[in-house]
Amino acid sequence: MAVGRGLVVRPVRRSDREQWDALWRGYNDFYEQRLPKKISDTTWDRFFDAREPVYALVATEDGRLIGLVHYLFHRSTSLVGPTCYLQDLFTAKDVRGKGVGRALIEAVYARARGRGAERLYWQTHRTNVTAMRLYDKVAVNSGFVVYRRDMSPRTRQGRTRGAATLSRRRARSS
Ligand SMILES: CC(C)(COP(=O)(O)OP(=O)(O)OC[C@H]1O[C@@H](n2cnc3c(N)ncnc32)[C@H](O)[C@@H]1OP(=O)(O)O)[C@@H](O)C(=O)NCCC(=O)NCCS
Repeated sequence: MAVGRGLVVRPVRRSDREQWDALWRGYNDFYEQRLPKKISDTTWDRFFDAREPVYALVATEDGRLIGLVHYLFHRSTSLVGPTCYLQDLFTAKDVRGKGVGRALIEAVYARARGRGAERLYWQTHRTNVTAMRLYDKVAVNSGFVVYRRDMSPRTRQGRTRGAATLSRRRARSS
């Protein structure tokens, strides 16, 4: 299904904070992750700090924010140019399946190419089959598996439950 003609993807603005908060909350709820306000505030401020390599785009329709995507640039030992990591993608529930997610990914792709990036990549949880239906259309599955060890007391104490809990919950409900 085509997106409405009024869809615009643009960089986030300071005046978007309230609507961005709602989408960001939705994204974190989806991954059963509770972030302290300090982290959200820091992430938000980084979007507007020219020294930071972290960026946010939002999808809007008639002034309403209906999606967000966050991305950042980093070095790679196997590439000369920057690598772009698309970290977060979220669209409002009532607009899903209308091309907003795809438009956000394509917008990051265009911006990364404009910055001379040689690769754009992202991760998803293996249970996120809905997201993978989109991803399989716009990129290739690299086959790499992500391992991690959390190092901050916040994550070690399990206050951010994240992927392991998500996996158990979905295993129970399937
Ligand atoms: C994943 C997510 C961002 C996709 O956003 P979206 O706006 O629904 O995606 P799109 O409408 O652009 O989907 C594009 C394609 O995927 C397919 N697709 C998306 N959702 C689908 C669904 N529920 N069922 C079947 N196909 C689907 C569509 O067929 C579409 O293909 P087309 O453009 O060729 O018609 C959205 O579902 C979401 O926010 N989910 C919760 C958070 C999340 O999972 N984020 C990603 C974490 S890695």
